[in-house]
Amino acid sequence: MSNFPHVETFENISELESYLQIMKNMVCEVEGLSELDHGLQTAYELELMSPEDKELQIAGLLHDIAHQQCHIRDHEQYGARMLEKVMPIRIRELIAQHANAKRYLVSVNKTYYDKLTPTSRSSFEDQGGLMSDSEIKAFEQHELRDDLIKVRVADDLAKTPGRKVHDIEYWLNDLRAVAI
Ligand SMILES: [Fe+2]
Repeated sequence: MSNFPHVETFENISELESYLQIMKNMVCEVEGLSELDHGLQTAYELELMSPEDKELQIAGLLHDIAHQQCHIRDHEQYGARMLEKVMPIRIRELIAQHANAKRYLVSVNKTYYDKLTPTSRSSFEDQGGLMSDSEIKAFEQHELRDDLIKVRVADDLAKTPGRKVHDIEYWLNDLRAVAI
């Protein structure tokens, strides 16, 4: 990762919370949806899928934390590094691998590609494109495989401008509870 620009690592949860407030004003790939809205909708979908799994839900909230920080190809690795002092390894790994979950789903299910948004389609090649057979096998053996797929499915469902879901204040206790 030597080609990475300087990574702004959050020193504590307060810094992360302040950044989440800033994300309210960052425009997402979908018009009318902020980067924070997208994270909130992803966390909400994961709460519906796995109500007890707060780490999974917070991973959804934070998965695109680095979207505005770097080239699309690196945003998942960059995001995990931004969180290395404040979030546990499972959450960071779910974030670091979330683009691979998309690559996996496209690689094993050709119709999945057709359902992607235009932006998601255009970033697909940049993110590595189709997986090789060995990459597919490695992904299937990943211990977080099922959770990674959940994050990706939730990500796909989290692109509706104006949708009412829990606001950021709802998640702050959980954010602090899972923090390291
Ligand atoms: Fe996303």
